[in-house]
Amino acid sequence: MTNIRPYRETDKYNVQRICLQTVNDDVQFEGLNRENASFFLTVYCNYYIEKEPQNCFVTVDGNDEAVGYIICAENVKKYRKAFMNEYFPKLEKKRRLMVFGEVLAYYFFASRYPAHMHIDILKEYRGGGTGTKMLEILTEHLKNKGISGVQLCVSEANTRGIKFYERFGFNTLMKFSVGRAMGYKIK
Ligand SMILES: CC(C)(COP(=O)(O)OP(=O)(O)OC[C@H]1O[C@@H](n2cnc3c(N)ncnc32)[C@H](O)[C@@H]1OP(=O)(O)O)[C@@H](O)C(=O)NCCC(=O)NCCS
Repeated sequence: MTNIRPYRETDKYNVQRICLQTVNDDVQFEGLNRENASFFLTVYCNYYIEKEPQNCFVTVDGNDEAVGYIICAENVKKYRKAFMNEYFPKLEKKRRLMVFGEVLAYYFFASRYPAHMHIDILKEYRGGGTGTKMLEILTEHLKNKGISGVQLCVSEANTRGIKFYERFGFNTLMKFSVGRAMGYKIK
């Protein structure tokens, strides 16, 4: 039995754990050592739960422990400023170019899709409609804030993820060498 509720600070450890446990489901990735773990948390997790916890939701099990999350930055300009000042400098120099490209990609579609998001669910809790429900909750939350669209980046190898987003109504905005940007207009 699961439930979806707003993120709380006490969920931080579990959300970070889910981020690291699901990395391999989305990207082709050589292994999770301390350096890689810190990279993934800095780029794909910590900004959202530390700076915009009000835009994050978790799926919890019967013990109120997070087993999945949807985390979001509601405005690319606001995100870029804080991310580049506080998180980007923590990254190793050799990895910065790739991350900078991802931040720029969000910027490219910012007028139509000002928000961007990440979603991850532990394996045992997938395929039962949880991801769709979390997307519904997030898009309703953004709609209530007057935000017109949400975008994301997904790896081309993640065919199930792409199918999941397309089924919800996301369109492909641009294809890169290893992934694509997708966007959803909030009506
Ligand atoms: C992608 C993800 C969030 C979807 O959530 P979910 O709760 O499994 O999705 P739902 O049950 O609402 O929808 C299931 C549909 O999504 C797709 N899907 C994507 N990944 C799936 C998975 N691992 N297992 C089952 N269905 C999956 C299928 O197309 C499925 O459609 P079907 O029922 O016709 O087979 C989740 O599977 C997940 O966390 N995957 C690993 C991490 C990831 O890829 N995150 C996105 C990175 S951009």
